[in-house]
Amino acid sequence: MSPHDPLLQFLVQTLGNKGVLTETSDMERYLVDWAGARGGLPLAVARPDTPQQVADVLGYCHRHDIPVVPQGGGSGLVEGALPDSHVPELVISLERLNRVRSIDPLNFSMNVDAGCVLQTVKEAAEAQDLTFPLSLGAQGSCQIGGNIATNAGGLNVLRYGMMRQLVLGIEVALPDGRLLTDMKALHKNNTGYDLKQLFIGAEGTLGIVTGAVLKLYPRPQVTRTALIGCPSVEGVLGLYAQARRHCCDLLTAFELIPRACLELAFEADATLPDPLDGAHPVYVLMEVAASGPADLDAMIEALFERGMEDGLLDDGVLASSETQAAQLWQLREAMLEGQQRRGEHLRTDVSLPISQLPAFHAQAEAAVLESSPESQVIAYGHVGDGNLHFNILPPGHLDDDAKRSLLHELEEQIFTIVGEYNGSISAEHGIGRVKQPPFLESLSAPEHDIMRGLKRLLDPRGLMCPGRILPRTQG
Ligand code: FAD
Ligand code: LAC
Ligand code: ZN
Repeated sequence: MSPHDPLLQFLVQTLGNKGVLTETSDMERYLVDWAGARGGLPLAVARPDTPQQVADVLGYCHRHDIPVVPQGGGSGLVEGALPDSHVPELVISLERLNRVRSIDPLNFSMNVDAGCVLQTVKEAAEAQDLTFPLSLGAQGSCQIGGNIATNAGGLNVLRYGMMRQLVLGIEVALPDGRLLTDMKALHKNNTGYDLKQLFIGAEGTLGIVTGAVLKLYPRPQVTRTALIGCPSVEGVLGLYAQARRHCCDLLTAFELIPRACLELAFEADATLPDPLDGAHPVYVLMEVAASGPADLDAMIEALFERGMEDGLLDDGVLASSETQAAQLWQLREAMLEGQQRRGEHLRTDVSLPISQLPAFHAQAEAAVLESSPESQVIAYGHVGDGNLHFNILPPGHLDDDAKRSLLHELEEQIFTIVGEYNGSISAEHGIGRVKQPPFLESLSAPEHDIMRGLKRLLDPRGLMCPGRILPRTQG
């Protein structure tokens, strides 16, 4: 971009030299996401460090018809944050807007900039003996703004809810350049429409989140982690029902992990031990936590005994130290890396009523293997949320084009079955670009009209993240 370009001049004047990148080499890291997907070259990367600067940049773009895409930590899994390859966009990175503004321990709330990394927010809460309970594999890089924009879920949703349940207040730079401030730290507020919910899960298509008031909880004082080997997905569901009751509803995580995922974890990190003797078809990684005195060991041991008697589980290990617990969680992280190393694969993010998980799993697995007997199903997920990552590794001998076309066919089959169960094709990762075609197909006419109407109202020129969630529109 020439130094005389009016956009560049405006950005330098408004954000200073540190707030703008235009060299291709400087912009490289904003073009690639965690999964290795690549976007096109943007007009520039703007790096505002106050909410008002974000609003001012959006106001300029609105007046001059410049499309924009906000970027957090680049860990989103549906390519929403990547700059468009055909119509150059201005990337607005929130990375410099990263202050923890304040914490109110008695109100169980904290006020943060949207560019704060999730891990930083969690550590700030812990320093006050509180917890911000959103936990996910990308927490060292994803930002609160990205978590809000994708309504992130993760490992502890069954106890604390998704981002939607964890945001008390929000501050958003609107596409026309105004700043919407709804930063009330209130646990109850029924005054009219709940506008903040519009921006949560909107993936940046309605405005840029610049700040939020987050809900905190007491920090757990005792936490126990167990890995349990089960004979079947039915067994896992039976165990889940028992665990909810017999662990006094203190469950914080209940993750389904098939044996194939443990193998992927060992591929990624050969130092990880296999925690149980022998192999089991499926495993549960379970965590129970209490903020006060509670005999969690006794609860889990009773659960083991009962589950064994009822034939729901075959074996289990209760971590005896924090190190051992961390090792069990390391399996959960490493399996994602192992999957990534296998190259081209299908990643899905479906949800079903919890009670229907075993039937869905059996039907979808049978359909996939009938179409492609050499493919490998690796279905893991958040049982307590009815959320399965029903993923497929294609046969290794196919070339990449053949793999992509096979995976596309299998995805269609899986989504048809999801529809039969009245499920969702995106439980936590969002729509972005990747899931747009099946999402649009699934919309009823009233849903489509309301979504289009909201988009037109807030972003009449169609400049915010064009082509994500809804198709691109002209002004
Ligand atoms: P980005 O990837 O930068 O952006 C995501 C979307 O939000 C884009 O559309 C972008 O334009 C928009 N956006 C970013 N910042 C803002 C803002 N301030 N205002 C408005 N729009 C904005 N997700 C889960 O839900 N549960 C999981 O368990 C989970 N585990 C994961 C594990 C790994 C290893 C990885 C790589 C990802 C995982 N994810 C998970 C997905 C991802 O981490 C989340 O979607 C996360 O919330 C994205 O945050 P980010 O800051 O990286 O956003
Ligand atoms: C997980 C992410 C991919 O559950 O959602 O690991
Ligand atoms: Zn997940």
